[in-house]
Amino acid sequence: MHIIKSAQKLSHYLSVLRIEIENVTVGFTPTMGALHVGHISLINASVENNDITICSIFVNPTQFGDQNDLDKYPKPIEKDIALLIENKCDILFLPSYEDVYPKEYEQKEFDLAGLDFKIEGASRPGHFQGVSNVISRFFEIIEPTNAYFGQKDYQQTVVVKRLIKILKLPVILNVEPIKREPHGLAMSSRNIRLSEKGRKNAAFINEALKQLKEDVPSLGITAAVTKAKQFISAQKGARVDYLLAVDTTTLDSVDKYKGKGQTAVVTVVEYEGVRLLDNIIL
Ligand code: PAJ
Repeated sequence: MHIIKSAQKLSHYLSVLRIEIENVTVGFTPTMGALHVGHISLINASVENNDITICSIFVNPTQFGDQNDLDKYPKPIEKDIALLIENKCDILFLPSYEDVYPKEYEQKEFDLAGLDFKIEGASRPGHFQGVSNVISRFFEIIEPTNAYFGQKDYQQTVVVKRLIKILKLPVILNVEPIKREPHGLAMSSRNIRLSEKGRKNAAFINEALKQLKEDVPSLGITAAVTKAKQFISAQKGARVDYLLAVDTTTLDSVDKYKGKGQTAVVTVVEYEGVRLLDNIIL
């Protein structure tokens, strides 16, 4: 695996490759590191479907509202490199801040059609504009054929879809299913902050979502959502930050089932002081 730290070097490497191999396909997975099975599933999908796979590790400051959260972000780089090699990633892009945001770069305000103010965006002002800035820079440097994102961050996938549309980019967005721990908790770099018992117990979030999906035909969305919230709130130490049924494209709240794949139920549950994100598509 090549480790490339400069944006210019990566662009150059790829332009040579594009001359050498006609129609070479480039798969790209952006990450912030501290890689786990969820991230690796994106790498695996890319390796399977592209000639070249690039993974970036960059903890993007412009998407963090809280400096403390940014400072605390884990950086087990040696372990990440070993995992990427083991999974046949071809290039690790490990840029510095200046490589992603050169001196002359001005943070852009993208027209995200209000998607950035909804759900997670409501409590994290500027977060999705930060994500959009970093992703648009990566797309500019790499010009990937395929980009891989996890359904785990559902709103992020909708924002990136919008970004690709407004920038009229030829990249194909691939959204991969949520990888879960054996008991059902969605994998996340934050899970290490849970106690061992908490990590197993937190499966109640996934259970509530699965049950909700089953309940919708008989109860309807509103009652099924209320029941799921009550179930989670009844778990010791759990607090529902939000649990919402939303349109999969606009992210507006919905109260009626519109058909397969058109509604997502998104939730954040605070448990043992950790914000746990999960979702399910109805
Ligand atoms: P990060 O949190 O490192 O996640 C990188 C990618 O891994 C995202 O697309 C995320 O949805 C996916 N992912 C995380 N947990 C997953 C799981 N359990 N199953 C499947 N996929 C999972 O998301 C970011 O970084 C950043 O916002 C980034 C896109 C890199 C921009 O800075």
